[in-house]
Formats: sequence, structure tokens, C-alpha cells
Amino acid sequence: MLKFQSVSKSFKGSNESIDVVKNVEFLVKEGEFVAIVGPSGSGKSTLLGLAAGLDKPDKGKIHLDGVSLGDLSEDELANLRSTKVGFIFQNFQLLPNLTAIENVAIPLMVSSNLSEKEILTKSRDLLVSVHMEHRENHFPLQLSGGEEQRIAIARSFINDPKILFADEPTANLDTKNGNIVMELLQKLNRDKGSTLIVVTHDHSVANLADRILEMKDGELKEKFKSNLKSPKKKIQASKTKPAKKKKR
Ligand SMILES: Nc1ncnc2c1ncn2[C@@H]1O[C@H](COP(=O)(O)OP(=O)(O)OP(=O)(O)O)[C@@H](O)[C@H]1O
Ligand SMILES: [Mg+2]
Repeated sequence: MLKFQSVSKSFKGSNESIDVVKNVEFLVKEGEFVAIVGPSGSGKSTLLGLAAGLDKPDKGKIHLDGVSLGDLSEDELANLRSTKVGFIFQNFQLLPNLTAIENVAIPLMVSSNLSEKEILTKSRDLLVSVHMEHRENHFPLQLSGGEEQRIAIARSFINDPKILFADEPTANLDTKNGNIVMELLQKLNRDKGSTLIVVTHDHSVANLADRILEMKDGELKEKFKSNLKSPKKKIQASKTKPAKKKKR
């Protein structure tokens, strides 16, 4: 579904260039839920932007749903994004002069054959699913950070994406709304078979994923999940390891 082959990206600073993504290789299968963790500034958002075709690598190849992104024209890339890709940005990127419901509807308004009424009905249903229906006519400036994030999440679902990239989707949410969002993302992954790639600092979010990849200084490595999470494995582990003696 997503393949990176020796992908590198650097940005020009004032007098030097910074290597932000270094020779990254990885493969995500269709329907997988992958979490990407790593320190601030390690290149996670840059990697996600490259994967979604929002940015271009300096070196290497990226395949998304069977096509090489480097071979596509800008129009073909835009078409791929509007039909197959969902993206939840770290800074939401809502359009300030559109209301909440218009922001959710916008990807379909520009690309689909559905009528305006059908699109608005679908958008309203998504607002309900993120508990934001009471704010449908608010503009982004009239919303809190967490509310903006939920609108951005609803928008990313509007085209039933085959692959969804989410950059810190729970960062601005309280535990209750964070759980609602993760349940929605997992539902999309489970029921529609959508591939899910989530950047997160939150270990409880990362632990929901099938696999965790760790970005460090522009390099990406597979991180092995703590297998002490499931009660069954905990019990097995306690049988093989002697319990630590309590200090007195
Ligand atoms: N357009 C750009 N021009 C110049 N430098 C950039 C640009 N975008 C990102 N960088 C630099 O690349 C590095 C990685 O940025 P990136 O946003 O990918 O990190 P991140 O892992 O997502 O961090 P965070 O967890 O804080 O969101 C940072 O040092 C950042 O300053
Ligand atoms: Mg980031």
C-alpha cells in the first residue's frame, strides 16, 4: 500500500542544509494500522507529507497504492489525494473563511459527483460522529483547538480514504475526546479496511497499532511493542520470570 525506497529529504537552512529524512525504507500493507513515534524535530511530519504526496523527496521512490508518486503530474497527484487519501494535519489547516460544516465538505465539493445536498448530509453525519454538530455554522476562529481538531478529523473521513495519515490526531484533545477520535480511526481501519498511519507522542495511542515505527534524527526503525500489554502475555511472562523481591 505504501512503500518507501531509500527516501531522503533535506531543507536548506540559512547557511547549511539539514537532512530531515535519511535513507528511509519501509513498507505498510493494505489495511495495516501503523504508529510513528519519535522526538520532536525528528522528521515525522515531513515523512508523512512525503508519503501523502504533499512534498517531494530529494532522493528515493515512494509508492502509494501501486503508483510511484514521482511519476505523477501535479494534477494526477491532486486527484489521487482527493480520491484515496485522508490527511489530518498537526495544525489542522482549516480554511478560516469557511464554516465548520463547509470545511468538512470541501474535499467532496471540489471532486465528487454527489449533489451538494448529499455532500452536506454526509458532512453533517461526520460532525455528529465527532460530537461537533452543534458548531456546524461556526468559523474556525470561533472554535477551540480541540474542536478545530475534531473538524479536521471529520474532514479527513469525507472521501472514505483508502489510506489515512494522521499527525498527532489526539494532541489537543482531552482523554474522552481522544478516545472518541481513536475509536473512529480504528473503526475506519477495521470496517472499511483503510490503512492508517498515525504520528503520535501518546504511548497509549501507539500501542493500539499493529506496528510501531520510531523516527530518530531522520532515520526510521521498527520498534518492538511492549508485549506485556495483554493480560495473557503478562501471565505467561510471570511464569517464566521470577518475581522481583520487594526491597525492605
Ligand atoms: N519547510 C521547512 N523548511 C525548513 N526546515 C524545515 C521545514 N519543515 C521542517 N523543517 C525542519 O525539519 C525538522 C523536522 O521537522 P518535522 O516537522 O518533520 O518534525 P516532527 O518530528 O514532526 O516534530 P514534532 O514532533 O515537533 O511535530 C525540524 O528541524 C524542522 O525545523
Ligand atoms: Mg510534527
